[in-house]
Amino acid sequence: MGHLDGKTVIVTGAGRGIGREHALLFAQEGANVVVNDLGGAQDGSGAAAGPAEEVAQEIRDAGGNAVANGDDVADEEGAARIVAQALETFGDLHGLVNNAGILRDRVLVNISPEDWDLVVRVNLRGTFLMTRAAGNYWREQSKAGKDISAAVVNTSSESGVFGNPGQANYAAAKAAVASLTQVASKELGRYGVRVNAILPQARTRLTEGAFGDALAAKEGEFDRWNPANVSPFVVYLASPTSTLTGEVFLVGGSRVQRVKPWEKDPEWKLITEGRWTLDGIDKAVAEAGLPTGGNTWTANPGGGKK
Ligand SMILES: NC(=O)c1ccc[n+]([C@@H]2O[C@H](COP(=O)([O-])OP(=O)(O)OC[C@H]3O[C@@H](n4cnc5c(N)ncnc54)[C@H](O)[C@@H]3O)[C@@H](O)[C@H]2O)c1
Repeated sequence: MGHLDGKTVIVTGAGRGIGREHALLFAQEGANVVVNDLGGAQDGSGAAAGPAEEVAQEIRDAGGNAVANGDDVADEEGAARIVAQALETFGDLHGLVNNAGILRDRVLVNISPEDWDLVVRVNLRGTFLMTRAAGNYWREQSKAGKDISAAVVNTSSESGVFGNPGQANYAAAKAAVASLTQVASKELGRYGVRVNAILPQARTRLTEGAFGDALAAKEGEFDRWNPANVSPFVVYLASPTSTLTGEVFLVGGSRVQRVKPWEKDPEWKLITEGRWTLDGIDKAVAEAGLPTGGNTWTANPGGGKK
């Protein structure tokens, strides 16, 4: 008996890397899996049916249920087809893991508008379109009186919530995925849908280029960067056992850690009568002894002469 016997899940970008591990674990736990992958390069160029088909075949060879899909998650009709394929093949849908993602790293001043658009398109628009397509199905089912217990797991990134230099396009898209997660959780909750996001840490083609041997498995030690380490928590989040929603978790190696949502800083607050003047702000900041520089969200880079 698996933890997800009879459930149907879609995993996007499941032809390689972390998504492949999610798909394999879902199948091991008894779920029917739609293995989606466009099959392109890590910068989003090209397409190939091979990766999705190989993972689906691997699942079927191991006795599981899987179907391959080669659509682009960021294409409106493609996203609709992925959801339709789950329903046509397996009759229902219980989980969606938005994992497909690409990188086009450059310093901000060198990012072309095309590289900006493509990275935002796949990471953010793809997550939106898939969540909208699945969310519409669950809303219809809920309105028809069905008791829904469904889940979406989005893939954000530490780069997005902590701000990696060299990844302005990717970080902006992934930060938006975290925000989208919060809104989707609030909106879809009424239909019985939970929505969470992860910030994964794993050795894949996306990270090997930047970190190389530092992520390699070491003999006799737990393989901390193995992408399969990320999947148990994702499967947990997608399973009816979990009640978590609207949360973001760092997941890698042996660690799962909740990331606090944005919050107003009670220590860094200035109040005046009516509208502020620039001199008034300057004086108030100095008098309150508030931080005026440094690498924090409350910083005032370029300012802070005190
Ligand atoms: N590896 C890490 O440490 C790490 C860290 C933070 C976030 N992430 C995120 O995790 C997710 C998985 O990344 P990975 O490291 O396994 O990389 P990966 O390149 O191995 O896997 C991503 C998969 O997504 C597929 N894909 C790309 N664009 C697609 C599209 N438009 N439609 C459908 N499929 C598409 C690719 O073909 C690829 O197989 C991504 O969203 C990535 O941004 C990874």
